[in-house]
Amino acid sequence: MRVVSGLPGGSAGISQTLKSDIARSFGVASSTYDRASRLQRFMGDTMLQRCPFVDDQPLDARILDLGCGTGWFTRKFADPAKSEGVSGLDLSPGMLEQARRQGPKGVSWIAGDAEHLPLSDNSHDQVFSNLMIQWCDDPCAVLRECRRILRPDGCLMMSTLLDGTLRELKAAWEAADPDHQHVNRFETGFAWQTKVHAELPDAVIETRTIRLRYQSPMALAGELRQLGAGFRGAGRRRAVTAPGRVRLMDSQYPREPDGTIMASYEAAWIYWQKQ
Ligand SMILES: C[S@@+](CC[C@H](N)C(=O)[O-])C[C@H]1O[C@@H](n2cnc3c(N)ncnc32)[C@H](O)[C@@H]1O
Repeated sequence: MRVVSGLPGGSAGISQTLKSDIARSFGVASSTYDRASRLQRFMGDTMLQRCPFVDDQPLDARILDLGCGTGWFTRKFADPAKSEGVSGLDLSPGMLEQARRQGPKGVSWIAGDAEHLPLSDNSHDQVFSNLMIQWCDDPCAVLRECRRILRPDGCLMMSTLLDGTLRELKAAWEAADPDHQHVNRFETGFAWQTKVHAELPDAVIETRTIRLRYQSPMALAGELRQLGAGFRGAGRRRAVTAPGRVRLMDSQYPREPDGTIMASYEAAWIYWQKQ
């Protein structure tokens, strides 16, 4: 198993501090991530059903799992007999360490930034990227990098979340703590489509609303924490939010008849083949 280091020194948009913050919080969550990632599993599995490389991978295929996290999906490509061409790349050293521990042998685990891939032009047959790009400040740079490293006929499969994701939680926090942001911002569907079609004109985009049930708003917040997906942007409270505000947020969150809550996720997938 090789660990390759390719983390760049600078970044085009999002500040390096924020990127290191993202890397650190995913690293802290690396041991709890797999048990909390039901949305991530569903979205990745949706792409895998379309992927020709899972059951029928040519011996020399080169596959990149971009933003691989703990390597859950990387391992789906890494048949022990032919895992040499499989790589998982992530910004977070903690996530990569967790992925490396679980193996299998032969996979390359690469520390790097999706906006500046440390990989050669025309070098890959498949880029698979599940719920990574929404963490990037410059999604167009990520799409260009994917296009650059794919060989002719190579395929990109990518998923993300759009505006409207966690709208119930956002509205509850806006009522309870109007001067601070508590929920990540996501691209609008229109902005996402414009960016994707500017970089990959013939890409197919699919969208769907996914609703997940939780016991309470605190259970939802706990899951986000276990995923390392808490809010990290400017505008967040620097100090711990007062218990009274948390209770107010809880009381503002809409309940189902049985007392549980639903959280909405606006899911989007793109599928593209390089000509
Ligand atoms: C929600 S997790 C998804 C992990 C994995 N793809 C899965 O489906 O379980 C997002 C991952 O993207 C990584 N990430 C965030 N920004 C990144 C960037 N600019 N370059 C590479 N990885 C990044 C995070 O460290 C994290 O592991």
